[in-house]
Amino acid sequence: MLKTHNCGELRAVHVGQRVTLAGWVHQYRGHGGLLFINLRDRSGIVQVVFEQESAPEAHAIADEARAEWVLQVRGTVRRRPAGTENLSLPTGEVEVAAEEVTVLNRAKTPPFYIDREAGEAEALRLRYRYLDLRRERMQRNLILRHRVVKFIRDFLDERGFIEIETPILTKSTPEGARDYLVPSRTHPGHFFALPQSPQQLKQLLMVAGFERYFQIARCFRDEDLRGDRQPEFTQLDLEMSFVEREDILQLVEELYTRLVEEVSDKKLLFKPFPRLSYHEAMTRFGKDNPDLRFGMELVDVSDLVGDSDYEVFRRVVAEGGQVKGLCAEGLAGYSRRQIDELNAFVQNYGAKGLAWLAIQEEGIRSSFTRFLNPGTVEAIIQRMKARTGDLLLLVADRPAIVAEALGRLRVELGDRLGLRDNNVLAMAWIIDFPLFHWNEEEQRWDPSHHLFTAPMPEDLPLLDTDPGAARGQQYDLVCNNYEIGGGSIRIHQREVQEKVFALIGLKMEEARQQFGHMLEAFEYGTPPHGGIAPGIDRLVMLLAGEPNIREVMAFPKTQSAADLMMGCPSPVSERQLQELGLALIERV
Ligand code: AMO
Repeated sequence: MLKTHNCGELRAVHVGQRVTLAGWVHQYRGHGGLLFINLRDRSGIVQVVFEQESAPEAHAIADEARAEWVLQVRGTVRRRPAGTENLSLPTGEVEVAAEEVTVLNRAKTPPFYIDREAGEAEALRLRYRYLDLRRERMQRNLILRHRVVKFIRDFLDERGFIEIETPILTKSTPEGARDYLVPSRTHPGHFFALPQSPQQLKQLLMVAGFERYFQIARCFRDEDLRGDRQPEFTQLDLEMSFVEREDILQLVEELYTRLVEEVSDKKLLFKPFPRLSYHEAMTRFGKDNPDLRFGMELVDVSDLVGDSDYEVFRRVVAEGGQVKGLCAEGLAGYSRRQIDELNAFVQNYGAKGLAWLAIQEEGIRSSFTRFLNPGTVEAIIQRMKARTGDLLLLVADRPAIVAEALGRLRVELGDRLGLRDNNVLAMAWIIDFPLFHWNEEEQRWDPSHHLFTAPMPEDLPLLDTDPGAARGQQYDLVCNNYEIGGGSIRIHQREVQEKVFALIGLKMEEARQQFGHMLEAFEYGTPPHGGIAPGIDRLVMLLAGEPNIREVMAFPKTQSAADLMMGCPSPVSERQLQELGLALIERV
């Protein structure tokens, strides 16, 4: 080894020891014949002192060194002079008096500081990701990610799970996104799809008798990106045979509880995790991935205003819509401009606008109370548990729009009111999803999860009579306004699977073409089975307290699914295209 110790591990107990260190020049400053270099390696930082008088040669070399040069330093650990200790540094009690120094490599001036963040554009960070990754925050995040994955592997190994790799070059497994396709050279005109998840393969591993499978699996989805979505991401993919929903929920709950408590510094709000039906989550929070760190629930006042003189409310309720609202505590003082801002916010999510009511000491200000009789106004205030100082915000529309607009508004207000503490993790299960939702455009049922999800046994007959009312044996794990995992008990009987194909408008011929291997396998003794796939990126993001998953991925893609460092996607040669039998056409 080119070093005897790591920079960050030196302490008072090392005083008097001769050490060899190797690392990067983190910071330097000179004081005449004295030169200080903070030397950094993965373990941390230590101060190295170069004295012109006692080590002139080392001092002269160090005097040349600049940020991010790579040095090897030999010297002796000593206590820092009284009064010069740096308590903010773990090594701050000591320093290394350099005797010799070797320049292992020089460095160009980096495009941004490594020792601090100065708000540089993310594009620049991604372009020079290897430098960005030198920063303490990124090192901490990736080390945390490593610990999380190791914890998961150990936990599942102890419980008899086998980690099995499944192919990346495979056939389309629809999870609702577009596929990334890979052309085959040996089969011209044919394509592999990169897996959106290993869903089918893990089910086939159950047919194969492995009973307990997991994989830290890379998944690929060509979909619109946002802070919690990347085109390639990682799942803890898991599948078990001879289980019921309860077994999977308990296993994952124990894993995540221990993970949060043993690997992170975050606090779990709920033990055990609460369980909400999809319907309850939508009704109370307007979202199926609610942020449960705070209350501010949606309150339905449709019955109070349905026959009022306020035309907007009356018409919406008469047409089967809803009037629901939120009570924003303490925001009664919001100006018209601030309320207009919230109005524009909900309009982004399809609502026509906000009706509002502010209860101030001086009395009520409101956009709608003049149309209502005082008793109705009082009843709304009571129902919404509002007090002086609060601002009530209401949306009247179709239930789906009310939920979307108020669900988003609730999160926005949670931010404004400081109710979303990132040190707290509110994990919960959402269960009893509808098995299908109606696709208006295509005039057919779409699976809410995926087409292998089993109906609740008692809802099986509904597949024939009222598919929209059938619930699936599906569950999502949610935390702080994110869906951090999803899974289900699977269909293991061919007849049920065929019925689902029919409902989603998949002709038997097409089904056989796409999923013939599954249908065939299911005829050879398929055990009842089910599983789940928590997203690793989102989990680590929450454990690290980061605002998006790019901060916990070594080499993420940009919003437009490009890699700025490698410069891809990129054109390929004419020869490669020919080998693949491909010709490019101009996009119109
Ligand atoms: P699902 O599609 O719900 O289920 O995905 C499971 C979890 O994967 C994470 N996730 C993502 N993370 C980052 N970027 C993305 N683009 C992205 N898409 C999904 C989320 C999500 O909860 N095969 C099923 C699981 C099963 O039924 O066992 C599946 O993939 O955290």
